Amino acid sequence: MVAEEIGTTLSQHIIRTQDKFPQASGRFTRVFNELATCGKIISSYVRRAGIVEITGKQGTTNIQGEEQAKLDVIAHNIFMNRILKTGLIAAVSSEESDEIIEAKEEFSRNASYVISTDPLDGSSNIDVNVSVGTIFSLMKRKTPIGERCTKEDFLQPGTAQVAAGYILYGSSTIFTYTSGHGVYCFTLDPTVGEYILSHSKMKIAEAGNIYSVNEGNRKYWDKGDQQLLDYFQGNHADNDKPYTGRYIGSLVADFHRNILKSGIYLYPRATKNGKKDSGKLRLLYEASPLAFIAEQAGGLATDGATRILDIVPTEIHQRVPLYIGSKREVELAGKFGQE
Ligand code: AHG
Ligand code: MN
Ligand code: MN
Repeated sequence: MVAEEIGTTLSQHIIRTQDKFPQASGRFTRVFNELATCGKIISSYVRRAGIVEITGKQGTTNIQGEEQAKLDVIAHNIFMNRILKTGLIAAVSSEESDEIIEAKEEFSRNASYVISTDPLDGSSNIDVNVSVGTIFSLMKRKTPIGERCTKEDFLQPGTAQVAAGYILYGSSTIFTYTSGHGVYCFTLDPTVGEYILSHSKMKIAEAGNIYSVNEGNRKYWDKGDQQLLDYFQGNHADNDKPYTGRYIGSLVADFHRNILKSGIYLYPRATKNGKKDSGKLRLLYEASPLAFIAEQAGGLATDGATRILDIVPTEIHQRVPLYIGSKREVELAGKFGQE
């Protein structure tokens, strides 16, 4: 970080970035301020998880048949209540809602953006005091301003993202984002309630020695993925020892660690009862925003064969296999996948 960046707040940074890229316009600042506030509110719930009644299951399932945790629903509601009132976001697509949710007419007259979000990623970790996060992806809508939004506004490839980011509720709360001009990470200073720049132009090393995967699923994987794991667990010419395995089970936390320490996160497809699935992670609000950040940090993200950002979605809750992180390891995964 250069001297003049020290102490920069998230809002200062966004305003300065906008001055450099006028096409972003002042609207961007308002969206980011609101996202940042959502992060502060969700963070305050997470920090009190054991003492207020928010751990445990909600008793409902989402569109994907997954049990919702109480905090999944709280985070989703916080997000919707704030983001859809900015006057800039016409609709949101959330992991916790079957359909897209549109802003009320009074807030959508001039709204030219849509957001896809995973309001709480890694929610099974909330009850055990392990890091969770929020992921977001911002795009320009395709339908004309003033008209009703449709799914088509969301079914755009990751290359259409205007900005993407995540808020990680870890040992500290951090806000990481890219708008296509590098990756910036801000740490929430709880004593003043501001996000302060902590990592400027974040980069992931070209090669790493960490792999992050749920190995318990190994028997369901394709042969190539099993061989990739064997490779990671073997000895290597560069340091004559196996890779290190690290798996938190919150994509956002595993991804953040791997950016800083380098390596690969993978969630391969699985075959169960003779049926091959498309992986577990969702393209629009998990894979795609993190792929944008990975590439901006100098890394890669693929589904094993295709660049994540090039995939044109057909469903808002579409799943995709994910290999993301350091270039060398993601390319390697692609080679094993071809065998
Ligand atoms: P979510 O809590 O938003 O449903 O996401 C959970 C995801 C991801 O965060 C994590 O890496 C992965 O699921 C863990 O899955 P396994 O428990 O199958 O390893
Ligand atoms: Mn998730
Ligand atoms: Mn989630």
